Amino acid sequence: MIISGKDLAREVKENIARKVASYKVEYGREPHLCVILVGDDPSSRTYVRSKGKAAAEVGFQHTELLLPAEITEQELIDKIHELNADVGIDGILVQLPLPKHIRKHRVIEAIDPEKDVDGFHSHNVDALWHKLPGIRACTPKGIIKMLDKAGVEIAGHHAVVIGRSNIVGFPVAKLLLDRNATVTIAHSHTRNLGDITRTADILVVAIGVPKLITADMVKDGVAVIDVGISHDPETGKLSGDVDFDSVEPKASVITPVPGGVGPMTIACLMENTLDCYTRKMQW
Ligand code: GUN
Repeated sequence: MIISGKDLAREVKENIARKVASYKVEYGREPHLCVILVGDDPSSRTYVRSKGKAAAEVGFQHTELLLPAEITEQELIDKIHELNADVGIDGILVQLPLPKHIRKHRVIEAIDPEKDVDGFHSHNVDALWHKLPGIRACTPKGIIKMLDKAGVEIAGHHAVVIGRSNIVGFPVAKLLLDRNATVTIAHSHTRNLGDITRTADILVVAIGVPKLITADMVKDGVAVIDVGISHDPETGKLSGDVDFDSVEPKASVITPVPGGVGPMTIACLMENTLDCYTRKMQW
């Protein structure tokens, strides 16, 4: 079975849109998401545009702040502080990567944790590790929703996560652990990767190596979540970290690229923005 992230994302967004319509009557305004883009990296621009489109679909107010690549770290932080203080803004997101002269951690830490819709601020990361309420990162949240939707049993099963980034690998491993999976985290230094992936009931691949996972590296019935997205140098088409054509026949469920995890990340971003807004309004 191919899990359509697109279809599930549509369901999640329709749910949000219904809530926004009634909250708008109750609280007098809609949620407001502010997305900051520094510079004009083409892939980042595409992501930012998709986030704006999704915000419009669910009925949010949406501001896109396009800042020049030459902006100083302090100027960017000052801008974020302004947005933190603006009671009419519920969610703030700074698109990554940032230009080299800007320290990413300084910028992330400048965002009010209550408006950190990406879930990257150390308060929210701390909340994840301590199983406390907080904002969970969008891609990991989307992956769990996809597994649940597909009826994949997590508890007691072996989940292998390839990749250990703060955006995907680390947090998804923790969410799977909290759902009582036995979790192995593999990465670029892991030896004999196939010996490990062949033991996976659930395989999450988020390492950014096109077609790394081939049919001989998975067991029959595995649930495969492919977070990778890059251009195949031969065909120029988008490709995931999983060789879809060879792995799909062995998998019980698998996510396509594109149309898998990507749309769910954005749907969860909308969910996080709505949560920031309702927490504020219901305070
Ligand atoms: N760049 C790649 N993925 C992400 C993400 O989830 N959030 C932000 N802000 N930037 C990204």
